[in-house]
Amino acid sequence: MILGEDTTRTSGGLPALIAHWRSYRHIHRIALVIFVLLTIFVLERYHAVFTSAFQITQQQQQQHIPGQHYEPYPEAHSASQGPPKNNYDNLSPSQLSSLAAQNAGNATLGFHSIKYINMKSRFDREDAMALQAYMAGLEIEDFPAVEADMIDPVGMPPTHRPGKLKGGEKGCWRAHGNIWSESIRTHAPPILILESDATFDLSIRPIMSRLAPHFLSFLNSINSTPVHDPSFGSPNNHNLHGKPTYKPIVANPDDPWLSEHWDLFSIGQCFEYTQDHEIKYVYEDETVPEGKDYWGEKMGRERVIRKSGGITCTTAYAISHTGAAKLLLRSALDLDNPVDLLIRRLIMSRDLVAYSLFPPVMAQWEYIGGIGMGERGAQSDINGGKHQDTPENADMPGWKEVKEKGSIWTTKGHHRDVAFQRMALKEAWTEIMAAEPKKFEESLWNPETGD
Ligand SMILES: *[C@@H]1O[C@H](CO)[C@@H](O)[C@H](O)[C@H]1NC(C)=O
Repeated sequence: MILGEDTTRTSGGLPALIAHWRSYRHIHRIALVIFVLLTIFVLERYHAVFTSAFQITQQQQQQHIPGQHYEPYPEAHSASQGPPKNNYDNLSPSQLSSLAAQNAGNATLGFHSIKYINMKSRFDREDAMALQAYMAGLEIEDFPAVEADMIDPVGMPPTHRPGKLKGGEKGCWRAHGNIWSESIRTHAPPILILESDATFDLSIRPIMSRLAPHFLSFLNSINSTPVHDPSFGSPNNHNLHGKPTYKPIVANPDDPWLSEHWDLFSIGQCFEYTQDHEIKYVYEDETVPEGKDYWGEKMGRERVIRKSGGITCTTAYAISHTGAAKLLLRSALDLDNPVDLLIRRLIMSRDLVAYSLFPPVMAQWEYIGGIGMGERGAQSDINGGKHQDTPENADMPGWKEVKEKGSIWTTKGHHRDVAFQRMALKEAWTEIMAAEPKKFEESLWNPETGD
């Protein structure tokens, strides 16, 4: 109609076909007009939404411009792997600090993960760890120990002291070695390593959360600078960029323990040494029972963060990838000592930058004496003696103590620095049953009724 076509010719043959086609063209024109109108309408209507989407994209691009927020492991966050990193550019130092403190008290205590080394046969230790983690709210990954039958001399480092290391000591070193190796191969952020008999306070999460801001203050008080990091592309490579000068350290919620400043951070050694004990920072922590002795100084309800002088026991320590690389290298050169002495020597020679806590927040547990577990060799995987059932005639005066305490677990005797307010394993009965320790007696097997 619009183009003056004749719509009366609707019947028969070629002309009809052409008319049909023209009317289709006509419909297409109307459709086009409707489409254009609709597009204009939609653009008008959602104008605001489209503009803000564009702005977000711009902001995201700006994030890639390096800000003041330091990224300790650039490659761990490369585009191909891992979640996009958080943007903290708009937060004030105190907001950063409280976010970092919050993360320091999360289920992995602010570390990337917590790895727990345990022998296949130690179901008892696996269960004790499961109960503790459950009560304290920790997420713990099992990491297989290296069993004696997996050690073949052909795969061990050379040694100056052939025949001196026990099979258990070799396996123990290697389990730690496997974590160090994994840590540098994956460029993993700091990992907390726990040995099978680790124990801690029920409030370990708040304890670590409270510690984090003080740890930052400690590092600032000693003018700490990042440890040399040889990994490819690291801004902390001193060989390439020179030794750094001190800059005030800002809290980092992605790495609450500021791991670029250390190789190793022990939170559960059995002994510390005198070297560097005066490089310290004391803060109030009401979960520490008062009266502990710090190198002749009487302490109140306080905890000390210190530069390590050399630790024994690797019960609970965090490792950064620089520390993992140093330990892997050092032990590849010779394996003359058990793993904790190897670490101790590297701290004493100051090749390993290490910090520790007094009192430590983790320790080793053992069975209360006199319940037949020493006879089984269950008190230690390395020096535990022969594995066997408790002999039928074993002397077991310890059950009396168990009845009073409702617990078979205690902290290992030789840890003189340990000070827990509420050791998770000692509290397990009260916590889980919601009952007094004495209530344990009611569920004991009764030899008179045989029930
Ligand atoms: C705890 O915080 C650290 C550091 O921000 C993080 O890497 C880790 O994934 C967090 N753990 C959990 C269980 O969210």
